[in-house]
Amino acid sequence: MVTATATAPPDVLPPAALQSPVQRAIARVGAEAFLASLTTREQAILAYQWSEWARPSQLPPPGDWTTWMIMAGRGWGKTRTAAEWIRARIDAGEARRIALVGRTPADVRDVMIEGESGLLAIFPPAQRPSYEPSKRRVTFHTGALATVYSSENPDQLRGPQHDTAWVDELATFKSGEAFDNLQLGLRLGEPRQIVATTPKPVRNVRELVTDPDTHVTTGTTYENRANLAPAFIRQVIRRYEGTRLGQQELEGLLLDDVPGALWQRAMISYVPHPPDLIRTIVAVDPSVSDGESDRAAECGIVVVGLGVDGYAYVLADWTLRGSPLTWAKKVIEAYHHFECDRIVAEVNNGGALVEFTLRTVDPTIPYRAVRASVGKRPRAEPVSALYEQKPRRVRHVEPFVDLEDQMCSWVPGEGDSPDRVDALVWGVTELMLRRRRRGLRGRVGPRTSGSPR
Ligand SMILES: Nc1ncnc2c1ncn2[C@@H]1O[C@H](COP(=O)(O)OP(=O)(O)OP(=O)(O)O)[C@@H](O)[C@H]1O
Ligand SMILES: [Mg+2]
Repeated sequence: MVTATATAPPDVLPPAALQSPVQRAIARVGAEAFLASLTTREQAILAYQWSEWARPSQLPPPGDWTTWMIMAGRGWGKTRTAAEWIRARIDAGEARRIALVGRTPADVRDVMIEGESGLLAIFPPAQRPSYEPSKRRVTFHTGALATVYSSENPDQLRGPQHDTAWVDELATFKSGEAFDNLQLGLRLGEPRQIVATTPKPVRNVRELVTDPDTHVTTGTTYENRANLAPAFIRQVIRRYEGTRLGQQELEGLLLDDVPGALWQRAMISYVPHPPDLIRTIVAVDPSVSDGESDRAAECGIVVVGLGVDGYAYVLADWTLRGSPLTWAKKVIEAYHHFECDRIVAEVNNGGALVEFTLRTVDPTIPYRAVRASVGKRPRAEPVSALYEQKPRRVRHVEPFVDLEDQMCSWVPGEGDSPDRVDALVWGVTELMLRRRRRGLRGRVGPRTSGSPR
């Protein structure tokens, strides 16, 4: 249900000239008095009149754009706005074949379909769509059909055609492929899509904002504060306010490269098919905090291979948040999946516990403990220098959005410790720099496994 919309206090209503009739009434007498003047039936009907509640920037812009891109801060109402646009397009008969595309299938289900601002919640009860998870399908009251896709399975978007698409959180996609494939199939009728995302300078986002067929709407978290839980506001504002990242996460600004960062986007090159690999390792920056809550630190898990051509190839970023046993299992899974020679883990924080936890899962792994004897900057700089050299001496087999965002936004000495970058730095150092950097490397633990390399 969306009755919470009826609580918008006057101080966050749009300027008078842009207010809807309901917003004007609320501005005049207050939300409570206005609602009290309605019958229950009127209230129920009004709850589903999006045009009465939407802020002007949440209503479809005029013009003949093909992509409406909403690039706004956390909690601005991106998902709700997109869902309401889909609903309006269905009601108007313009949307009959719809693609719903999220980072993972679970994101599509939990946020875009079943979420509080999702498709099932925003249609009036009599028109409630029917969702069949096993068929990845939502059927609407007009007969329109929506299919679930995700950035994890880009191949599913090869072939099917659509007249309408909703892409949620594009900047977090695992690669750009799903979005690229979607574009090829967006060709029924007069196709249009809505892309809602927190702005991050990843390839697809940067390309879209400069596309003449895109209408970009921007906005800040603060604009929607009347409709956000106080705990959410406290949490995101405490985390980001006053930081450069806050410009992205709260103000919805698309940042370019970050001054002082050791990596720039242009230094990252992609080679989808690496040559034969001489060595492959899993590099781990363990987290010592416990639990799987948001507060648990990320455990950086990055897989790097050394090609016969002498270049390093970043093969995977399996970083996750979780308890030591959770990440240890993931590390061992990566070790086997990529047929690695060794696991390298930083042990500054966890000491013997790191090796113990890994060996609890698999006692046979070849393991090297590395201990930082110099700061993060002197460790990371030689690795970023390898990325900078031409030809690029470190390449990625696909875009690793989160890793690359950390690489390109981390300024040594500022902000959170970047776990993915730490893992990457250990991995590339082990493969490319270890011999040369023996003096810098710090103490290296004994090779403790008897298994063959
Ligand atoms: N104009 C509005 N009137 C009333 N409620 C609104 C309005 N805009 C958004 N909301 C509500 O605000 C809440 C947050 O919206 P939504 O989840 O769409 O934000 P978001 O920008 O997608 O957030 P996130 O960054 O977490 O993905 C939801 O409950 C949504 O229904
Ligand atoms: Mg959202």
